[in-house]
Amino acid sequence: MIKRSTTTVSAQSEASKYYDTTSGITYSSITHNNGVTYRVALPENGTVSDAILQIVSPNSFAWCGFAWGGHMTQNPLSVGWATRDTTGQQAIISSRIAYGYYAVPYPNENAEYTYLQGTTANETHWQVTTRCQGCTKWSSADGDFDLHTQTEAVVAYACSSVPPEEPKNNGSLFNIHEQFGIWSHDLTIAKNGSFAAWVVGNKYEQ
Ligand code: HEM
Repeated sequence: MIKRSTTTVSAQSEASKYYDTTSGITYSSITHNNGVTYRVALPENGTVSDAILQIVSPNSFAWCGFAWGGHMTQNPLSVGWATRDTTGQQAIISSRIAYGYYAVPYPNENAEYTYLQGTTANETHWQVTTRCQGCTKWSSADGDFDLHTQTEAVVAYACSSVPPEEPKNNGSLFNIHEQFGIWSHDLTIAKNGSFAAWVVGNKYEQ
């Protein structure tokens, strides 16, 4: 039986500009009260769906997901988790979409992810940095969406301390979140003419 989640953590109200000195990427970044950070970078003119997403989570959360349309169903979900490996790839992203609230979200075949540098873990945190082609434009039962034409977007997160059944497999089953939150994320500061260079310059190597 699936338990209903009981905690909603109130979100910090505003995203701000964050310059990552290691990668050179400037993100629109927000850190919520639970200590989890979500960062988005976009091309200046998004004619096709393209974005960089970074999730940085304390190890107390086993997985955290980002919902590009601000709710659980009918929008791309980028779910990150720690593999708990000490070598090799230490964090992965799972491409999902949900059509209802009482099932594990399905694989989302319409989004393609490429790992970037900054996909790692240490004693305190895990983090995943990926390019997503297909997360910022989608069509679903809720309509057609294009975040590239918006100055801000209502997005959402969900996190759990309970690890997926198979942490090394991004197709794994996992259970319901213990927390979720919804906020409006500034996209103006996410847009940057250097986007293409960031993708090329931050290829993921283990
Ligand atoms: C096995 C996996 C999951 C289950 C069983 C599940 C189940 C549910 C249920 C029952 C609710 C109703 C509200 C409540 O808890 O009282 C809910 C809400 C929500 N879920 Fe999930 N969930 C799962 C995974 C996810 C993931 C991966 C995300 C995001 C990446 C997510 C995002 C949300 C959000 C944002 C809400 C708030 C209501 C909304 O705006 O849609 N969930 N979920």
